[in-house]
This record gives sequence, C-alpha cells and structure tokens, in this order.
Amino acid sequence: VGAPARGLCAQSADPSSLRVPGVKRELETLMGSALEAAFPDQRQEPIVVQTTNPKFDCDYQCNNAMPLFARVKGEDGAPSNPRAVAEAIVASIPANDLVEEAAVAGPGFINLRLRDSFLEGRAATLFQPDLSVESWAPQAPCRRAVVDFSSPNVAKEMHVGHLRSTIIGDTLCRCLEFSGVDVKRLNHVGDWGTQFGMLIQHMEEEGVAFDAAVEDLQVLYKASKVRFDEDPEFKQRAQRAVVRLQGGDEESRERWGKICDASRREFTKIYDALGVTIEERGESFYQPYLEGLVGELLESGVAEMSDGAACVFVEGQDAPLIVRKSDGGYGYATTDLAALRQRLSEEGADWIVYLTDSGQAQHFRGVFAAARKCGWVPEEGTGGYPRVDHVGFGLVLGEDGKRLRTRSGDVVRLSDLLGEAVSRCKAQLVERGNDFGGDEEALDRVARKIGYSAIKYADLKQNKQSNYEFSFDRMLDLKGNTAVYLQYAHARVCSILAKAEASGAGGGGEGGEIRVTCGAERALLAAICQFPEAVEDCVADLAPNRLCEYLYGLTSKFTDFYGECQVVGSEEQASRVRMCEATLEVMRKCFFLLGMEPLDRI
Ligand code: ARG
Repeated sequence: VGAPARGLCAQSADPSSLRVPGVKRELETLMGSALEAAFPDQRQEPIVVQTTNPKFDCDYQCNNAMPLFARVKGEDGAPSNPRAVAEAIVASIPANDLVEEAAVAGPGFINLRLRDSFLEGRAATLFQPDLSVESWAPQAPCRRAVVDFSSPNVAKEMHVGHLRSTIIGDTLCRCLEFSGVDVKRLNHVGDWGTQFGMLIQHMEEEGVAFDAAVEDLQVLYKASKVRFDEDPEFKQRAQRAVVRLQGGDEESRERWGKICDASRREFTKIYDALGVTIEERGESFYQPYLEGLVGELLESGVAEMSDGAACVFVEGQDAPLIVRKSDGGYGYATTDLAALRQRLSEEGADWIVYLTDSGQAQHFRGVFAAARKCGWVPEEGTGGYPRVDHVGFGLVLGEDGKRLRTRSGDVVRLSDLLGEAVSRCKAQLVERGNDFGGDEEALDRVARKIGYSAIKYADLKQNKQSNYEFSFDRMLDLKGNTAVYLQYAHARVCSILAKAEASGAGGGGEGGEIRVTCGAERALLAAICQFPEAVEDCVADLAPNRLCEYLYGLTSKFTDFYGECQVVGSEEQASRVRMCEATLEVMRKCFFLLGMEPLDRI
C-alpha cells in the first residue's frame, strides 16, 4: 500500500497576512541569542521560556541554565554551578526593548520582567489600521487538518458524549482556523452496518413509514434488535435484507436514505442551536474503498489471514486489528482505516484529529498502529507529519456521580438538556429583575446565549481526560469560573465603553495612547499580551481548557483593574478606555474561539 504523496508543511495559509509574533516566541529568540553568545558551542539547545507564577513579580522565566550546566559540567573553563551558567546567559542578553530586568533565581532560573513600554506598544498594535487581533494569531502548525468530531449514529439519539465531542471539536477547529490552518470538519456519522438491514426488515413487517421521527426510530431499533436476537427466522430475513442493502438494491437504498434523513434533521437542529458547522461524511461514504483496501493489505503482507479473518497484527497490541471478519463483513475498524487513508491521500491532510470518549482509545491505537505499519504516517514520537491524534475525553456524570441518565434510566436527550439550560437562565434573569422590560423576545435571546455558553464553557474548561459532573447550578453560578461570570464581565466592559463614549472624552473607539500608571493596569496588559500563547497551547495540547484558563485569568485581571482604577472621568481616561477596548478585543476573540456568543448588555 503506497504512502500518500506528502507536501511540506507551509507556515501559514495566507502568507500575505501580517502577524505580530507572540511574546513568548520573541523571548525565546532573544534568550536564544543570549545563550548562543554565552555558550557558542551549545547552539542546538532548545530554549525553554514559560510564564511564571504571579507571586514572583516577573512575567516569564527561562529554564535553560540547569540542563545546560549538566551538559558543560567538567569541561575546561565551564561555570562551577547552574547559577553561574544563568549569570553568564543574563550577561549576554543583547540590547533590546522587550526585557526590563533579568534576574537569576533559585537554582538557576532566569526571571524575566517585560518593559512597560513593550506591553503598551504591543497592546497598541490591536488598533493599528493594518493590524488587529487577527494579526495576533499563532503560527500554523500545519497546512491542512481534518477534524473528525461529533459523529453520532443514525437511528439513535445523539447523547452527551456526542455533545462533548461536538463542543470540544468545534473549538479545536476554530483555534486551528484562527492559526491559519485549512480545516476540514468531518462528521463521521454511524450510518452503515448490519443493523440497518435489521431495522428496515422490522419496519417493513410492522408497516411503519420509513420517514418516522428519530424517537420512534430508536424504539423500533431496540425492538428489532430484540427480535433479531430471539427469533431465528426474523434473523434470517434481516440478514437477507442486509445483503440487499449492501448489494445496492434500489428500494432498500431508498428506505435507508429516509431513515438517515430523519436522523439528520435532528442532528442539524442541535448544530444550528449550538452554531456548529460540520460536513457530514458518514461511514457509508467509505464502503466502496473497503474491498480494495483489504486486498492491498493482504497482498503487501501488512494483513494476514487468521482463523478465516483478515488481521493486522501490531507489536505491543494484544489483539490484532480485524479488517475483514471471517463471515466476509467489514467493521468499524476497516472503515476507519479506509477513512484515514482517504483523508491523507484525497483530502491532503497533514494532521487528523479524532474526538470521542476515551472508551475508544484502544480502537484508535489499533487503527493508528496499522497506519504506521502501512507507512502512511511516521513512527510515533518522531514529531513528523502527517500526524494523527485521538483526543479521548471522560464521561459526563450526573449529580449522583454515575453516568448521566434521566430518572427513568434513559440517556439524556440533548434537546432537553439545552432546553433546560435556557429555561433556567430565563428564570434566573427574571429573578434578578432583568426581564428586558417585558420584551419576551429579548429575554429569550439573552437566556439562550447565556444557557448555551454555560453548557459549552462547563464542558470546555474541564481537563478533557477527566469525567465531570454535570450540574446546572454550578454552571449557572454568577461567581466563579463560569460562562455567566464571563458574560457579565463582558457586558461590564461594554457598558464602561458606552459610558466613556457618552462622556465625550475618549470613547467610541477613540481611546488614547496606552500608559501604565499602576500595577493593576500592568497586570491587565500583560494578560492581554499572552493571548497568542494561550491559543498556541490549546492547539499544541489539543486542550480547550488551556484557553478557558486564559480567558478566566484575563477576566479576573480586568475585574481587579476595574475595582482599582476609575475609568470614566479620571485623568487617565483616554489610556484606560484603550485598555478596556483591548480587553474587549481579546475577550471577544476568546468567546468566538470557545463558540460562545458574547452579550453586550444583560
Ligand atoms: N459513531 C461513533 C460513536 O458514536 C463515533 C465515531 C468517531 N469517529 C471515527 N472516525 N471513528 O461512537
């Protein structure tokens, strides 16, 4: 099986767009030159710069001295301890307008404090005519990515696991797109398999219309499964129905199409409500590829026959990946292997990311290992492209600590969940006296925006691996790390700017030059300037919680600033208005990347 043709990774989809490099990147370059000057033989050293704990009164730290010492120790004229290495690096920092102070701390950390003038200038770039928050986008890690997310199953209800996949996947897509990656969003819908023959046969015998609603389909599906398991004659008829469907029989195809349409209508409602775009390309799409693929795998020796099944054995995996069952059928794994190859060769993907609950980790390990055995993707740990990643996430638990279920024990319907979030928000607004003067429509609109952002944010802020407890009370809390807190803070920034505009001096996008006059202002600017790194970390770790942490931190800095610094009517009004505008720009971009619609007024 030939490896798909590969191109090199371009840096950006649009080379003409202007980019302001992230602060961390600039510090890495600066410290790289310092290190090179101090230790000319150690140029290959990768530079490690990271943000510091706020208690250290500096912005970043460089950690290269310790490992470097370990390397040069004992050499002629080498420094006698890691602190001396750090001192030598600090002494070699070239003249620059970034760093105000570099100090050696502890065993050899280099603490870096940025100049106020640098922070002021950097924030000002947000308002330069040819620049904007778009120019703060991090560098693209690759040219083209496929993100496989959401992926519910036909004739089954979409459940909270699919909701997590949809929400996390959408945010990863948005961050990749912002970074300049060309992203293909694919919905790998479960729309194929023997169950459809069974379902069609059952529906025909029961005389049910094939365009039944999805709730009915679920019930029918369960009933057909019971019959299939219990009634050998039905089983035979169902198996014949499968053969007809897979053989391309027109009537069967048409019925199958109607079943898919009914499910699709339900899925689309959820995507529309959540503002998620995704392209459906279900398992059925890859069926024409399967036979040829398995033939090639056997011919090249990647797969071998074992007990009548075609298997790919991979080192380190207990069970082989079965690509053709002994009855000649193809399963989930074969489809995924075919899809992987199609995405590399026909879609030209450099990076493929899959989002499902971590229960499928084993499956993806097998598929990826088989793809490596075929030579389609480089060995693990080489950092090479094309790259494949499975992002597994934990379960959504109910307040009883068990898998989220309704009282009757059924899976929770997503539309009910979203509906409840909205009605609770509405009640909360009314209770606080925010009923928009009886404007029912405005109230609904606001409740929807808060409700949906609360559900999304509660999900995104989780470390993706952990299970988490779903709690309306917690996610709708006005205080703490919730979307509601963020929405209110956003509305507050908007109202300050509106007041400034009304006051006539320095408002309405007319803020003046940014000038740091106190610690709260400085802390806010420093947080604003860290935005590109937050997106970069989110993409590098495939972890939206990194971006949530950032947004929450930025918002807290704003809350401190607002508590300490008078904006409207102060001597610093022009500069502070600009700071509010910069906060708003970055906040809104974060909201956008997290798929949350910001409210200007609550
Ligand atoms: N339909 C599957 C499920 O509901 C998820 C599919 C994930 N994507 C994939 N390429 N296997 O569990």
